[in-house]
Amino acid sequence: MKFFVDTADTADIADLAATGLLDGVTTNPSLIAKSGRDFLEVTREICALVDGPVSAEVVALDHEGMMREAEILRKIASNVCIKVPLTVDGLKTCKKLTGDGTMVNVTLCFSANQALLAAKAGATFISPFIGRHDDNGFDGLDLIRDMRLIYDNYAFGTEILAASIRHPVHVLECAKIGADVMTAPPAVIRQLFKHVLTDKGIEGFLADWAKTGQSL
Ligand code: G3P
Repeated sequence: MKFFVDTADTADIADLAATGLLDGVTTNPSLIAKSGRDFLEVTREICALVDGPVSAEVVALDHEGMMREAEILRKIASNVCIKVPLTVDGLKTCKKLTGDGTMVNVTLCFSANQALLAAKAGATFISPFIGRHDDNGFDGLDLIRDMRLIYDNYAFGTEILAASIRHPVHVLECAKIGADVMTAPPAVIRQLFKHVLTDKGIEGFLADWAKTGQSL
């Protein structure tokens, strides 16, 4: 399973990239706003921090506008992945861009039928929003299960990028179902490293080591 971080905070991205476990980055207009940075400038900086795909989202709602914005964004770096919303114009744009060899992440996916359309449009990634699905009384993980089944039925190459991940159990369940990628906020990725018994074990080993009076 690939790990992407869902943020536009370059300090967090650099810190997580240093673990060697980061495969890419996703951003969206809300995360860019939160960073307080210039969109193009921060995207350029992020693209230099990771080798993998960096999703940068268009804000136009019409196909022509999306294509115009995608032209600007894809010039930033070769690892830019254009993020488009799951709308008719978004999928038209997806088809055109992937046909030209540009990576596309289709975002705001809330149904398996939408995911089927994105795969048919040649999307590189499809982003189902698990947390927001849960927030609205649905089971976001059921959506991932349905998508996995459908994509496997037809051997679609589109990668399922589980998004709107809120906690480590989402990550675990997505890995069990077989999502190709998950994108999570930095705090959730850091939580994955933690276990109370790991901390307790280290504490015990260090206490016993101190008793030996040895040093390395
Ligand atoms: O980047 C898209 C997605 O991960 C947003 O998550 O937490 O705002 O629902 P959230």
